[in-house]
Amino acid sequence: MALFTKKKDEERPSFQVLPNHLGIIMDGNGRWAKKRGLPRKAGHKQGADVFRTISQECADLGIRYVTFYAFSTENWKRPQEEVDALMALFKDYLLEAKQDFVKAGNNKIKFIGEREGISPELLELMDEAEAETAGHTGTTVYLAINYGGRQEIVSAVNRLIAEGKTAVTEQDISDSIYTVPECDLIIRPSGEQRLSNFLLWQAAYAEFWYSDVLWPDFKKSDLYAALREFEKRNRRFGG
Ligand code: FPP
Repeated sequence: MALFTKKKDEERPSFQVLPNHLGIIMDGNGRWAKKRGLPRKAGHKQGADVFRTISQECADLGIRYVTFYAFSTENWKRPQEEVDALMALFKDYLLEAKQDFVKAGNNKIKFIGEREGISPELLELMDEAEAETAGHTGTTVYLAINYGGRQEIVSAVNRLIAEGKTAVTEQDISDSIYTVPECDLIIRPSGEQRLSNFLLWQAAYAEFWYSDVLWPDFKKSDLYAALREFEKRNRRFGG
């Protein structure tokens, strides 16, 4: 499947307001697999295909930044077989992206999360994907891999302390965390209604959209429903 082919889609609605930065928690893969008597990794595989479709759709809609929560710092506690299966899916995607960089359209691929713990082979593919798409000016697709919001903030504060700061401001922290813009909308399928350590700092004023659909069943129509709802929200940013 071409990663960044811009498809004409007669069904695509237009929106008056789009989130500048959309965050997506890809949840429900395990339950999707269990319902079908399949191993959990089958749910992740299907979820990876949905990621491809939805990340491309976000780009085609013109959303500037989209971050997908792919692997949290807590996910290492899962059975080794499941962790390996997820890492293999990331690798497959990046190998596929590598085939496609030349005709990659204009999208950027970026990563947020700790590098420690990730295999050198995967890190090399991640670095290559970032470098090869760095000059692109279209949608930035962030993959949060080995990511934890608390850890992101703690690391930022520790860096500031190491630089000699004895007191920090919000701006200091904003400047020291991963360079991801403020998040405007978070989508979480699968019926759960929690943030799960995702973009803690960046989502301070994010709108939330929940749905019972499991991520492997998530369709473009679910994305449109979330965006339609976002369009109607009255955002006051505490004012
Ligand atoms: C949470 O659902 C999902 C994850 C821990 C992994 C998400 C990763 C993917 C969908 C693969 C993405 C692939 C690429 C190439 C970016 P869960 O398994 O905890 O579901 P459950 O709550 O139903 O058990």
